[in-house]
Amino acid sequence: MNICVVGNGNIVKRFLEDVQSIEDARLTAICVREASREKGAALSEKYRIPLLFTDYSAALLEPSIDTVYLGISNHIHYLYTKQALEAGKNVICEKPFTVNPSETGELAALAEKSGLFLWEACKIPYSPTFKTLREQLPLIGALRVIRCNYSRKSSRYTDFQNGILHPAFDPEKAGGSLYDINIYNLHLTAALFGAPKAVHYYANYGSNGVDISGTAVLEYDGFHAVCTGAKDSTSPSGVVLQGEKGYLRLEGPASSAAKVFLSLDGDERCILETPDNGKLTEEVKEFVRQYREQDRDACRKMLDHSLLVMNIVEQCLR
Ligand SMILES: NC(=O)c1ccc[n+]([C@@H]2O[C@H](COP(=O)([O-])OP(=O)(O)OC[C@H]3O[C@@H](n4cnc5c(N)ncnc54)[C@H](OP(=O)(O)O)[C@@H]3O)[C@@H](O)[C@H]2O)c1
Repeated sequence: MNICVVGNGNIVKRFLEDVQSIEDARLTAICVREASREKGAALSEKYRIPLLFTDYSAALLEPSIDTVYLGISNHIHYLYTKQALEAGKNVICEKPFTVNPSETGELAALAEKSGLFLWEACKIPYSPTFKTLREQLPLIGALRVIRCNYSRKSSRYTDFQNGILHPAFDPEKAGGSLYDINIYNLHLTAALFGAPKAVHYYANYGSNGVDISGTAVLEYDGFHAVCTGAKDSTSPSGVVLQGEKGYLRLEGPASSAAKVFLSLDGDERCILETPDNGKLTEEVKEFVRQYREQDRDACRKMLDHSLLVMNIVEQCLR
């Protein structure tokens, strides 16, 4: 896979680091905006990336690139993905995949029609902690309550309070705690339990109407999933799946928890410890595998999952 990385922010730096160890993933190009040329050049030098673009359309014309990775702000995911697919490139696009489900559906159809791969870069369904939760789930009996909390006061929250608006708090740019942080909880819940029967969202709103924290309640047969995300306040983050015979617990946010605990009849023990869980390595390895083996069914299945998550988001924000 010959990848053009688009963007130069936090997640791009993580991607560049994590992709180093992945066989068959080559960093062919980096594309940044003209105003960020110096940052792009520094990343290109540090990670020995041969090509540097400051014009996205020009990058999409480059024949040595087969896949673009989009590590850019939420509101432009749809447009950049569409342009890449139209140019015949596979796309790995960061979460939240799009702003709404109709955009996701449109992009999935375009990828299918063009014979291209399209992936949402959300590490949860590919992570060892998630796989452990799924495998061990039958042990805890009939499910009663799911609690997921990812609450971390944003480094940009003080700016927000002082009237300085970053995309993460801009509703026009698909900012807010649901798109940014609670979406991980929705990914985990939807990947384990599928579509909920009903969705409710209770949010705290900032002065510009953006949800700065909130709780989504997803109703399933016999149990509820209570998913909280906060960018205005911090608490210990984690996930608990409560069943009639015991519970499973993640210590830390759904996206990067390092430990999984199992308790049956009051006896809690750690059943997995994986310090690498916050890395993007597992998901990108799987994307590279699907591409190498042309495993389109696996790709389609994950797109269905992305569509389901976007449907839940839409129900929350309705
Ligand atoms: N999977 C994960 O674990 C994870 C973790 C964090 C973030 N993310 C996702 O990654 C994405 C980026 O987040 P981040 O934390 O890296 O943000 P960030 O540090 O603020 O970086 C944002 C990037 O988007 C670019 N950008 C902004 N507006 C643009 C526009 N109109 N056209 C082209 N490029 C534009 C910026 O370019 P300039 O520098 O030129 O402005 C910058 O490179 C978000 O969608 C976020 O949800 C995922």
